[in-house]
Amino acid sequence: MVVLMIGEIDPVDVWFATLMAELKQGMPNVDLRVWPECGNPEDIDVALAWKPPLGILPKLPNLQLIISLGAGVEHILRDPDLPSQIPIARMVYPGQISQMVEYVTLAVLLFQRGFLDYQQLQKLRRWEYLPVPDTQSFTVGILGLGVMGSTVAKRLRAIGFPVRGWSRTPKAIVGIDCFHGSEQLELFLSKCRVLVCLLPLTPATEGILNLDTFSNLPQGGYLINVARGKHLVEADLLTALDSGQIRGACLDTFGTEPLPETHPFWPHPHIIVTPHISAPGIPSDVAAQIIDNIERCQTGRPLKNVVDLNRGY
Ligand code: NAP
Ligand code: GLV
Repeated sequence: MVVLMIGEIDPVDVWFATLMAELKQGMPNVDLRVWPECGNPEDIDVALAWKPPLGILPKLPNLQLIISLGAGVEHILRDPDLPSQIPIARMVYPGQISQMVEYVTLAVLLFQRGFLDYQQLQKLRRWEYLPVPDTQSFTVGILGLGVMGSTVAKRLRAIGFPVRGWSRTPKAIVGIDCFHGSEQLELFLSKCRVLVCLLPLTPATEGILNLDTFSNLPQGGYLINVARGKHLVEADLLTALDSGQIRGACLDTFGTEPLPETHPFWPHPHIIVTPHISAPGIPSDVAAQIIDNIERCQTGRPLKNVVDLNRGY
C-alpha cells in the first residue's frame, strides 16, 4: 500500500511522523511518501491531500481513494481534471468538532460580554461598566447545520442562547429554530445578533457573507466566519463595519492565507483575526480515520464520510 501526502501540509514533518507511526501500527507494509518525492506515479494507491497542487492527482493512474486531511474538500474539488470515479473522503471526528465548538462559543461570549469594547477601554485606562446583553435575547444564527454547525448549535443552546440554523434541506433539531433554502434565508437572518458561518465552500455559498446578507441582520450584529475566506466579500464587511450595521467580526479564514501584512483587517479595532486555527484537527485522530477508510477500501466495505460530488460537499 503506497500512500502519498500531498499539498500544503503544515508542519509536514510533524504530520509525517505522526501519520507514519500510526499507519505502521494498523498497516505494517505501508509506504508513506511526501509529494513531490512520490517516486513512480503508478505506485500511488491513496492520496492524503490538503490544498493539493492542480493537475497532480489526475496524473496518478492507479489512485483508488483521495482523503482530505480536513473537513472541507473544496481545496480538492477545485481541480477541474479530477477523475469523477475516484471517491473522496473527508475528516469527521469528535476531537475536531469539539475544537470548533470551543472556538465559536468563545467568540460568541466575547461579543456578548463586550470584550471588543473593553479592549478599547483598557487602552484608554478607562474603568467603565457596559450593559450586559441578556443571553436569552442574544440570538445566534448558524449558516450550515452539518456535523459542525449542528453540534455548535446544540452547545450554544445548552448555555442559554436562542439558536437558529440554516441549511440546504429541511432539518429538525430539538431546541433549534431551523430554516432552509434561499427562500428562508432572509427570515433566518432577521433575528441573528451573531451570524456564524459553518457552510462548505461551493458555487452556491461563495460570497454569501455580503452586504445584502448583512443588511438583513438586526443593526449592530456580529459575524463569526470559521468556514472559508471566500464565503466573505471582504470589502462588504468593511462597509458594514463603517456603517455600524456590523459591530464586530471574528475571522478565522481568509480569501488569501496567510492574510497579507498590509490587509486592512489586521489593524481594525472591531475585527479579531486568527490564522485558520478554529479547528486545526488532531493528527492521531486523523490517522485513525485514514486507516479505517483504507481498510474499508481494501476489503470492499462502504467508505465513511464520502463527499457527494454533485452537491460539492
Ligand atoms: P457538513 O457536515 O457537510 O455540513 C454542511 C452544512 O451546510 C449542511 O447543513 C448543508 O445543508 C449546509 N449547506 C451546504 N450548502 C448549502 C446551501 N447552498 N444552502 C444552505 N445550506 C447549505 O460540513 P461540516 O463538517 O459541518 O463543515 C462545514 C465547513 O466548515 C467545512 O466545509 C469547512 O470548510 C469548514 N471547517 C473549517 C475549519 C477551520 O479550521 N476553520 C475546520 C473544519 C471545518 P444540508 O444539511 O441540507 O446538506
Ligand atoms: C479546516 O479548515 C478543515 O476543513 O478541516
